[in-house]
Amino acid sequence: MSKRQVRIGMIGYRFMGKAHSHAYRDLPFYFDLDVEPVMQAIAGRDPEAVRQAAGKMGWKSYETDWRRLLERDDIDLIDIGTPNDTHAEMAIAAAEAGKHIICEKPLAMNAEQAGRMLEAANRAGIVHMICHNYRFVPAIRYAKHLIDSGRLGTIYHMRATYLQDWIMDPKFPLVWRLRKEVCGSGTHGDLMAHSIDLARYLVGELTEVTGMMDTFVKCRPIGEMSGGLNAQVVDDRYGEVDVDDAVAFLGRFANGALGVFEASRFGKGNRNGNRFEINGSKGSVRWDMENMNNLQLYLDDDEKGMQGFRTINCTEEAHPYAGVYWPAGHIIGYEHTFINIMHELMRGIAGNFSPEPNFADGYRNQLVLDAVERSALTKQWVTIPT
Ligand SMILES: NC(=O)c1ccc[n+]([C@@H]2O[C@H](COP(=O)([O-])OP(=O)(O)OC[C@H]3O[C@@H](n4cnc5c(N)ncnc54)[C@H](O)[C@@H]3O)[C@@H](O)[C@H]2O)c1
Repeated sequence: MSKRQVRIGMIGYRFMGKAHSHAYRDLPFYFDLDVEPVMQAIAGRDPEAVRQAAGKMGWKSYETDWRRLLERDDIDLIDIGTPNDTHAEMAIAAAEAGKHIICEKPLAMNAEQAGRMLEAANRAGIVHMICHNYRFVPAIRYAKHLIDSGRLGTIYHMRATYLQDWIMDPKFPLVWRLRKEVCGSGTHGDLMAHSIDLARYLVGELTEVTGMMDTFVKCRPIGEMSGGLNAQVVDDRYGEVDVDDAVAFLGRFANGALGVFEASRFGKGNRNGNRFEINGSKGSVRWDMENMNNLQLYLDDDEKGMQGFRTINCTEEAHPYAGVYWPAGHIIGYEHTFINIMHELMRGIAGNFSPEPNFADGYRNQLVLDAVERSALTKQWVTIPT
């Protein structure tokens, strides 16, 4: 019997569009799904570029206005991979059109917008997710299992850093990621949003924060993104950078743990240094995206004299998702995090539920982002609304 189809309409087809397209293509190859994802249409504004992208990435059709995807009755799911200022308008309209949604992070420009997106999704009864793909790294899933099963004991600390260095050249152009009216915040909403998501996933809700933010290069030539994290200067005029280059904050978790967080695009030598360490009463874990298959684990009940951090290569059947790919030791990569999250999305659509992380997580994440920004401005501790 043929499976129910999930016909996808994707908006934005560059960095995340490429990652999502690849995931939809590979998904049925690895997972036995209850539904059949169909790459129905993409939307972009440049007719020739969107036509080429559709052909290259394997989409059946294309539109030059994203609203057309919502009018089409052969689209079931809207995938939003455009800059942050567009998410709320697109997601609310998609929900009102009765389409399921996966939206890139951060969910919105601020918590007020994110709250409206959550309300619209709930009102429409559609399935929704936010693309915090790092939750779907097998090593992180396994860390979650160790924490939830009590192997690390009471959690006291989470220390997370997310460091990149791609904008350190002062001539690197003023792209959308550095303009507040388009991105909402800089490194904060881009990188820190991921660390906050991992903190909420692994340790729990944050209750209060105190933070600081700064911008090291305040003026840049006008430019645009050209794929991945590359960009080109398109104008010899300069414009003001009005978002943070770097951010740090301290936070308290509801369960009593303490959090220390830092994100920067000025961490020279760190290309995608997404890392954390969690310490509990009985053990600790450490993880680093640039070595993503490995989890460092310390357990206090190891024999005295043999104690120490061990490296677990999370590619065994026992590690979430790892078993669907290759034999143990045959590592996976960045793109597999997107295949895994799209698998959860398809499960959600098949079962009519919104898998985590969904818009409720995106909203709670945004409350923390907003609170850190407010704290940086006021130099006060800020309580996160419950
Ligand atoms: N999950 C992750 O790890 C991750 C990584 C990178 C980016 N992101 C998020 O994904 C989103 C997109 O980032 P990106 O890196 O793919 O950006 P990008 O600049 O590479 O691509 C953006 C795409 O959106 C299109 N676009 C812009 N405005 C549009 C509009 N009004 N209508 C239709 N298309 C429009 C552009 O033409 C382009 O195709 C952002 O929200 C970003 O924060 C998430």
